Amino acid sequence: MPAQLIDGNALARQLRERVAVRAAELTARGTQPGLTVVLVGDDPASQVYVSHKVKDCQEAGFASVLERHPAGLPEAALLARIAALNADPAVHGILVQLPLPGHIDAQRVIEAISPAKDVDGFHVANAGALVVGRPGFVPCTPAGCMEMLKSIGCDPRGKTAVVIGRSNIVGKPMALLLLQASATVTVCHSATPDLARHTRDADIVVVAVGRRNVLTADMVKPGAVVIDVGMNRNDEGKLCGDVDFAGVREVAGWITPVPGGVGPMTRALLLANTLRAAERSAGLAD
Ligand code: GUN
Repeated sequence: MPAQLIDGNALARQLRERVAVRAAELTARGTQPGLTVVLVGDDPASQVYVSHKVKDCQEAGFASVLERHPAGLPEAALLARIAALNADPAVHGILVQLPLPGHIDAQRVIEAISPAKDVDGFHVANAGALVVGRPGFVPCTPAGCMEMLKSIGCDPRGKTAVVIGRSNIVGKPMALLLLQASATVTVCHSATPDLARHTRDADIVVVAVGRRNVLTADMVKPGAVVIDVGMNRNDEGKLCGDVDFAGVREVAGWITPVPGGVGPMTRALLLANTLRAAERSAGLAD
């Protein structure tokens, strides 16, 4: 029997609806959640991503602003804008779209964002909070993957989980979240000699590499849960993930499609993080 699909579109819709209800309540109490998205330059993919983020915010009843700057914006000017947004009480979340032009030190920019407004969860204070299990903002993609596991009743406790990819944005925080949920976690990456040796034992596999066909059917334990974070194009130009979907769905128990899997959840978690930032500013959340 082929794997069941984890429908990211449906789950994200439910989450957005719950966020919109709470946003309306908070707005009625005098605090409308506000997200400012900062885009530097004119990278076409980034322009699409930020337009989605701003539209999602508007539909959820948030105040959202897209700030566009030319590619040549000096780093000092960007840092000055972030300082102003940090000081603006109507702005609860600040998102600086990555990648930034080469002359700007992205890490320096991320560290300039107030951790309380860092709804991407990229600031070292939030990354550190995740390491030690304190409240903070968790990066949207791994947080969305955990919601997907929850939605199918998959409790990672006692399970074997493999995360393929070790980025600061997905792989590392994903591994920490699974560990926090009491899975036994292995992180594999480009220097892992025999990937299949690890994945074949795994009850949960999360693939976040950015390359097609990293995970094939022969590498998957029957019944495993497979979460595909990848977003690539195949030879026909169609969107595809990092997983050989057609093959793996014949072996796995559950699988996320691309498109319609992790992507919409990432967007929905940005709303959830921004709502929480606004609730915290009003003294209503930790
Ligand atoms: N570029 C691609 N994905 C992301 C993301 O989640 N956050 C930011 N800030 N930039 C990105």
